[in-house]
Amino acid sequence: MAKITASVFTSHVPAIGAAMDLGKTQEPYWQPLFKGYEYSRQWMKDNKPDVVFLVFNDHATAFSLEIIPTFAIGTAAQYQPADEGWGPRPVPVVKGHPQLASHIAQSVIQQDFDLTIVNKMDVDHGLTVPLSLVCGSPPKEHFEWPCPVIPFAVNVVQYPVPSGRRCLELGKAIRRAVESFDEPLNVHIWGTGGMSHQLQGPRAGLINRAWDNAWMDKLIADPEATADIPHIEYVREAGSEGIELVMWLIARGAMADLAGGAKPTPLHRFYHVPASNTAVGHLILNNQP
Ligand code: DHB
Ligand code: FE
Repeated sequence: MAKITASVFTSHVPAIGAAMDLGKTQEPYWQPLFKGYEYSRQWMKDNKPDVVFLVFNDHATAFSLEIIPTFAIGTAAQYQPADEGWGPRPVPVVKGHPQLASHIAQSVIQQDFDLTIVNKMDVDHGLTVPLSLVCGSPPKEHFEWPCPVIPFAVNVVQYPVPSGRRCLELGKAIRRAVESFDEPLNVHIWGTGGMSHQLQGPRAGLINRAWDNAWMDKLIADPEATADIPHIEYVREAGSEGIELVMWLIARGAMADLAGGAKPTPLHRFYHVPASNTAVGHLILNNQP
């Protein structure tokens, strides 16, 4: 059977992708940020999964305001990096895993979560920046991501967005789905977006280090209590775009302790301000059997 062996959490910011694509990672502004991902890139090389299930949000790139799915699972064979206005990022096409994705869609929908099934989707910085941060830039002679990726898009842009509770419960359902796939695949689940940031209005530029770090502590130690934090607290404390953090609860919900197993072990934790307008948080949890 397939197994989820780890969860990875990381913020996304378009400027991080641009820093990598334009060769600026060693500049004084960016160097401390990329240093925080050195452990993760080595860990990814040493612990390469068969598939990454990547929870992210689209930023009105693949889905405009005309159609707004709350949860959308990518079942395609591949996904093109999106053109977000400056041309597509020069990163590899994202290869999918249609068999596992279709199985997860079947299982999770039968567990009463309504998923939108997506057979064609361009993926924006919400997906490609986390991949770049954790996998680095693939070499020209082997221009591909280390493994197939199942994109799972969550609406955190246009209200009403899903609650933290619903995201945690969905993570539990995804775990059951993966564990009922009849192939011995090693799967990592990623939760992306956040941490505190606000891009518009009088509070643009808001960062809340104390709240971010306390939230990460709570996510690790007490995910059930974290799931009950209301939207208004995210918006008040972490800014309007801080609501992206509910996506981390999907990955956390897929860890073994929420199915009666052992607590996951934190392998790496990093927090850095600033990256563009965003506080960057990053965490790797090793899932015990
Ligand atoms: C920024 C952060 C985001 O989450 C995003 O989607 C776009 C921009 C920023 O900090 O610039
Ligand atoms: Fe964002």
